[in-house]
Parts: sequence; structure tokens; C-alpha cells
Amino acid sequence: MENTEKKKIILSAMQPSGEPTLGNYLGALKNWVALQDDYNCLFCAADLHTITVRQEPKVLRERSINVLKLFMAVGIDPEKSVLFLQSHVHQHAELSWVLSCNTQMGELSRMTQFKDKSQKHADNINAGLFTYPVLMAADILLYKADLVPVGHDQLQHLEIARDIAGRFNHFYGDTFTLPEPYIQKSGSRIMSLSTPENKMSKSDPNPNGFISLLDPTDTIIKKFKRAVTDSDSEVRYSPDKPGISNLLDIYSAVTGKTIAEAEKEFSGFGYGDFKLAVGEAVASMLKPIQEKYNDLGKNPDYVKEVYTNGASFASRLADRTLSKVYKKVGFVAK
Ligand code: TRP
Repeated sequence: MENTEKKKIILSAMQPSGEPTLGNYLGALKNWVALQDDYNCLFCAADLHTITVRQEPKVLRERSINVLKLFMAVGIDPEKSVLFLQSHVHQHAELSWVLSCNTQMGELSRMTQFKDKSQKHADNINAGLFTYPVLMAADILLYKADLVPVGHDQLQHLEIARDIAGRFNHFYGDTFTLPEPYIQKSGSRIMSLSTPENKMSKSDPNPNGFISLLDPTDTIIKKFKRAVTDSDSEVRYSPDKPGISNLLDIYSAVTGKTIAEAEKEFSGFGYGDFKLAVGEAVASMLKPIQEKYNDLGKNPDYVKEVYTNGASFASRLADRTLSKVYKKVGFVAK
């Protein structure tokens, strides 16, 4: 990352909370790859966020590394972008504390993700789940990110990050850049294959609902064959055909064809043939990614070098912001 260039700064993160899915790729990762030349990008595996839901430590450790491998496998180039693990840069947790003292309980209790997750994990409504958006604000504000690529479900968190930043600037003087959401043009909302009313999610307990980026070809085809459609038989994009519309969205995102072109291509096809074609297109797109991912698995030293360098670069940037913040709030200089 050329720090001297006047490129805008982009930061985004993904939680190592499950197997990254086709939805994560088409909705996020693929776009991140495209941003690398025009922006100074930082991408991290948000492992601190992940423990807001109970995790198996060994699994979390593996998944955290795997997420970074996947970033690289899809084409995020460590020579261009900064790749790191959130827990390796201690400033995230520290800034989060200061920001939490500048965030109101009321605004946090309005967060829909908190409400959803407290319902889903009623036995573990911990304080971290509640302050999750504050940590996310710290992730963003530490690097003075101008733009944050996020899905629709994270827009409310970005809004609160802006509110927190604005309030801090108001009380303590200009400190933080107010981040803007970077809304991706297409493919940003891939739905579950089994319940197309819901977003495709890596934490879906039903594995047929999502395509893991690491699923082998025959599994991918099988899952597409099982995808929920409707009783009609026309391959047409329509709000009353959420399953078919989702498959058309996927096909269009994978092939670059428009929805209209795809509808035309499959007019007269039965659902079975259509689903097979979508499955094949997805499998062949994922193949080179999986090969690169497997190669990286054979080279753990290289992967470690990438995230170690990434963390030390990120840490230097983060420290500048954190020192400024500590000074502004009145902590004594070391
Ligand atoms: N909360 C985000 C998600 O679950 C992940 C995340 C953590 C993030 N920190 C971030 C995204 C900072 C953007 C910027 O999708």
C-alpha cells in the first residue's frame, strides 16, 4: 500500500465465523478485489467480533487463518492491500473502549442485528454483543477510512460509526474522518438456496442453503439441484419467484450477463436444466479460487508473513489515530 498517494482509504472486514459462502464472494470479496488499484485498501478478519457468539477456540483459530487465505485466493494481493487479523492490532480494542464511553445505551439498543442475535442466542446475550457496533466503529475510524464496502445488513452499523465519529469530533475537535458506505453495484444480496427469503449465510444450520466457497464441484451441483424454486416452470425474474430470481441473480453475477440475457438464454428450459447450468457456472468460477486456496494451505509460512506484515503496517497507522484520541480525551502522554 503506497501511503504517499492521495488515494482514498477503504476498510472492510469479514468475521471468521463459518465457511465463507458464494454470497460473501459475490456480495463482498469480488468487489474488494476490484477496488485494490483505485484505493488504499485494508481488509481484516474480524476475530474480535466473532467471539460475541460462543466459538470453539481451535476452530476459530483455523477459520481466522482460512479467511485470510481466502482473501488471497480470490485475488486480494498483499502487495497492494493490507491484510491482517483484527486481534493482532491491539489498538482496535483500545479505541473501542474510548468510543464506548461516547456511545449511548439507547442508540445501541436500536441496532437490529443486536435484537436479532439476542433472539438467536438467548442464552448468551453478552455485553460484547451489545457493544459490537462500537468495535466496528473503531475498526473503521482507526484508519480514517473514507469508504466502507458493506452489505445492507451492516448499513445501520456504519451509520452509528458516523454518529459516534461526529459526536467525538464535536466534543474533542476534529479527529475522525466520517466514513461513507460503499454500495456495490450488483450481486450484493445473494439469498439462501433453501429459503430464498433469507440472505445466504455462513452460519445457516442447513448446509443446503449456502454454497461454501470451498465446496467441491459435485456438492455445488447437488445443492443447486436441490434449490427451492416454485410450482411454475418459467425462468423469469419476479418478486413472486424469489428462488428463481435468486438463481438468475447468481447466474448474472457469475457470468456478467444481464438478467434479461439470462432469461432469454433459459427460455423454454425446465428448472432442472436451468439449475444445473447455474451450478456448473458457479463451480467453474470457484475452481481456480479453490486451487489457489489449496496452494496457500501448503505454504503456511508465506501466509503468516502476510498477516504479520499486515498487522505491523496496520498497527503503525492505528497508533497515530489512537495517540491522537488519547491526547484529546486527556490521558497523560507516556
Ligand atoms: N460486522 C461486519 C459483518 O459481520 C464485519 C465487520 C467488522 C466490518 N468490522 C468491520 C465490516 C468494519 C466493515 C468494516 O459483516
